[in-house]
Amino acid sequence: MPSLLGMSLLLERLICTLSNALQMVNIRLFKTSDTDDVIRVARKAWFHTYKDIFSKEKIEELLSIFYDPIHLVEGNTLKHSFWVAETDGKIIGYVTIGLENGEMKLFRIYLDPDYIGMGIGSKLLQTAETFMRQHGITKYYLEVHPKNTLGLSFYKRKGFVQSSRQPTDCSSECELVLEKTLD
Ligand SMILES: CC(C)(COP(=O)(O)OP(=O)(O)OC[C@H]1O[C@@H](n2cnc3c(N)ncnc32)[C@H](O)[C@@H]1OP(=O)(O)O)[C@@H](O)C(=O)NCCC(=O)NCCS
Repeated sequence: MPSLLGMSLLLERLICTLSNALQMVNIRLFKTSDTDDVIRVARKAWFHTYKDIFSKEKIEELLSIFYDPIHLVEGNTLKHSFWVAETDGKIIGYVTIGLENGEMKLFRIYLDPDYIGMGIGSKLLQTAETFMRQHGITKYYLEVHPKNTLGLSFYKRKGFVQSSRQPTDCSSECELVLEKTLD
């Protein structure tokens, strides 16, 4: 049984490792040449996130629609922006935002599950929010599956609240619509 001192040293070392890992993560704009890597992360992230929500066949079907390379396009405008998180030259996550019916929306934020809980999602979201603030956006919204507990806890922590907008997707259960005001 480790002593209290031993445990606190271990904890300190763990925090130090996590913070070093976070510092080594670079957020940059998506390039078309990243397409295969983003699809690889998407597959891992989707099976991890939705394995108890959708069937394997449904996940495959949705991945083939949403991650058809034709939909993975570079962007750095309010209409469409796409960033990736990378460490040691390896893509481990991504975020996309854009305008839908004239309103700003967070479309996707996914991490390789091996990197969840290290602050990388926060870093991706911060990049998107800084961009939106610089372009005068004061509010944006997103849709999340009601059983995606990890996603919901992340968004709640980041200051999102329930929106009165109608969900666009009710194919299984209606998605929850959340919104956030940027100060
Ligand atoms: C949601 C996601 C992008 C968050 O990124 P992350 O790097 O894991 O999150 P962070 O480490 O920056 O943590 C931010 C907050 O998220 C929550 N969170 C992080 N890991 C968590 C976990 N394992 N369980 C519950 N909440 C967690 C916490 O509230 C945390 O805040 P705190 O550390 O200050 O308490 C990432 O977990 C992910 O890709 N999840 C699967 C895909 C997904 O659900 N995407 C959203 C689809 S709509």
